[in-house]
Amino acid sequence: MPKIGIIGGSGVYGVFNPKESVKVHTPYGLPSGNVEIGEINGVEVAFIPRHGKGHYIPPHKVNYRANIFALHSLGVERVIGISAVGSLREDYRPGDIVITDQYIDFTKKREYTFYDGPKVVHISMADPFCPELRNVFIETTRALGYPMHDRGTYVCIEGPRFSTRAESRMFRQFADIIGMTLVPEVQLARELEMCYVNISTITDYDVWAEKPVTTEEVMRVMKENEEKVKRILEKGVPMIPKERHCGCKDALKGAEI
Ligand code: ADE
Repeated sequence: MPKIGIIGGSGVYGVFNPKESVKVHTPYGLPSGNVEIGEINGVEVAFIPRHGKGHYIPPHKVNYRANIFALHSLGVERVIGISAVGSLREDYRPGDIVITDQYIDFTKKREYTFYDGPKVVHISMADPFCPELRNVFIETTRALGYPMHDRGTYVCIEGPRFSTRAESRMFRQFADIIGMTLVPEVQLARELEMCYVNISTITDYDVWAEKPVTTEEVMRVMKENEEKVKRILEKGVPMIPKERHCGCKDALKGAEI
């Protein structure tokens, strides 16, 4: 049973040889694709392509609940979320990696919880990311010599459109990077007491800078970043401690009414 799950772009397929492809039905519908089970340097992992195989599901249509539930039902305890983001700061450059430590939710209409009643649960999101997983990937990315920021606030927008210049200038007041997929993935993982880490790769300077971002630019830099993500996973996954010593596994303690 894989204890580690990866949700990311299809570039991740190349990092492991899937030995099994599982169609998982969940009470919330089907995940973005079959869950691919394989190994990274001897460690069993489960992978879901967030936007589907071939990238046909836009960020606001991803079935985040089904993706997280599917991984959980296979025994996954720790989730690594890979995402492409824009930068809201000069010193966070395209090509850099960010191991996110906070987020702000500007999405508008997604399924945010597994607890729609009658059971009512209010989980804490004060520190949204697993400290153990963050440490592993900060150290790994640093050891590989990739330009990396060990913290960053991710503002998650609804999409699928990019921001206006006015929105981008506003987001710059309180966030460092901008993307469309972190929410509700991160909070759903916590509701099932799973660890979650976000590895963001910067593709562009959004639209506050001179030249507005284009999809073409994002896709081109994303391809360039893929190699880095693969190396980070190859080196980082075997370093993840087998036992969990973080608070993630107790996220529901005191959260249920
Ligand atoms: N993903 C990659 N670049 C982005 C941007 N500038 N805004 C929102 N999502 C993104």
